[in-house]
Amino acid sequence: MANADRIDPWSSEQSTDYDRIIDQFGLSNVDTDMLPNPGMLHRRGVVFAHRDLDVIVDSIHRSSSFGVLTGLMPSGKMHLGHSMVIEQVRWFQEHGADVTVAVADLEALATRGTSLSVGRETAISEYIRNYAALGLDPEKTNVYFQSSRPAVQRLAFTLGQRTNLSEFESIYGFHGGTNLSHLQAPMVQVGDIVHPQLDEFGGLRPIVVPVGVDQDPHLRLTRDITHKTNWFNVKIRKSGGLNIALSVQEENQHHLGINNDGTLEMSARNTVFSEIKNVISELGFSDIRSNPKHGVIEILGATIHDRSNIRMKLLSLERKMGGMGLMPPCSTYHRFAVGMNGGKMSSSKPESTIFLDDSIEHMERKVKRAISGGQPTVEEHRRVGGDTSSDVAYQYLKFFFEDDDSALNEVRNDYESGRLLAGDLKNICIEKASEWLQNLSERRVMWEDRLSEFLAPDAI
Ligand code: TRP
Repeated sequence: MANADRIDPWSSEQSTDYDRIIDQFGLSNVDTDMLPNPGMLHRRGVVFAHRDLDVIVDSIHRSSSFGVLTGLMPSGKMHLGHSMVIEQVRWFQEHGADVTVAVADLEALATRGTSLSVGRETAISEYIRNYAALGLDPEKTNVYFQSSRPAVQRLAFTLGQRTNLSEFESIYGFHGGTNLSHLQAPMVQVGDIVHPQLDEFGGLRPIVVPVGVDQDPHLRLTRDITHKTNWFNVKIRKSGGLNIALSVQEENQHHLGINNDGTLEMSARNTVFSEIKNVISELGFSDIRSNPKHGVIEILGATIHDRSNIRMKLLSLERKMGGMGLMPPCSTYHRFAVGMNGGKMSSSKPESTIFLDDSIEHMERKVKRAISGGQPTVEEHRRVGGDTSSDVAYQYLKFFFEDDDSALNEVRNDYESGRLLAGDLKNICIEKASEWLQNLSERRVMWEDRLSEFLAPDAI
């Protein structure tokens, strides 16, 4: 059942009330000024919200390592909507990220009945081929399959201890009739998102997941779960400075100085505390007050800006002591482009979008039929001008085909002032789209025999 308070990642109907989504789910607005060389989708406000993107921006500025994790459902054909994420992945890659791509073959099996072998074939011939053509760098891209990466499945299973059925009911609307494969899909996705942080997959570093808002429930779940595994929490003190608090759990109680009967084991507690104090003083803080009995350390001279550094150090310490040391994933959210006939873009409705392998003629026919923001008569159009916000040709130039801001602005001004008619605008879109599709198709041919370079060793 549709529920306004919930986002259903598997529904074909997605809310486009982005302001409400930001409020309701506590996302942050993207401030384009914070990004070095913002890409086209950033400059156009298409990437509109994020969680912890500042952590990634910080890594870019300091040239420290970070990763991108994205996933694809290997069913159907790749269309323009899908290319938006890759455009962002490419931007992150150009700014230093290593890229991991999850082929969600288990999820496609669970939710769409796509067999693993068909999923594999589709992933490579349809998606990876286009990812290559869209400019990902094979040297820094690793594609794997959910079904053949045990580390992901192991995480899905072990982290499952940190959530339960009630939580899945409330996040996803699962119910008694939900099949058990579908029930497992979100945990596998949690495994996808978290596993690049494991030592064998690149180690502790920030990971950003660029997605459409429909995927946010998975990110919230992942953040919640990683938080629950953390041994140390860093909080802001009301009276200034930061606090480090121990999070005692069954798995770590001995390391953190708690006996089975719940009493304090002072020698173990003191050992952790001196480790923590070492880490903090390495970062240059000297004004430290610690209360081992209560499990709290106060760093008076630290500010909110020091929090991520301190957290990072504590996660390494946690790993050294035997914990998982997981960071919450960062994420970005993009708006959905309008479907060509006004609704949503969907692979199952070929007229609603342009597929990456559509012929020029096919594309042309779709653009000509698409919804426009023109006025009913030429006379009226010249007088009031066109409406770019509802005009598919304009929207497609903006989202996909015209990367030159001043050219796009000129088109907008001409259209809104009535100089440009809807048909003229469509022709501009067709011309740009032809160039784009042609270019992509040449690049697909170029990469044809080299797709295995994108595959991780466990995917071959
Ligand atoms: N659930 C995603 C979709 O429906 C696919 C996916 C699987 C994914 N694992 C992921 C996306 C990890 C982002 C990150 O398209």
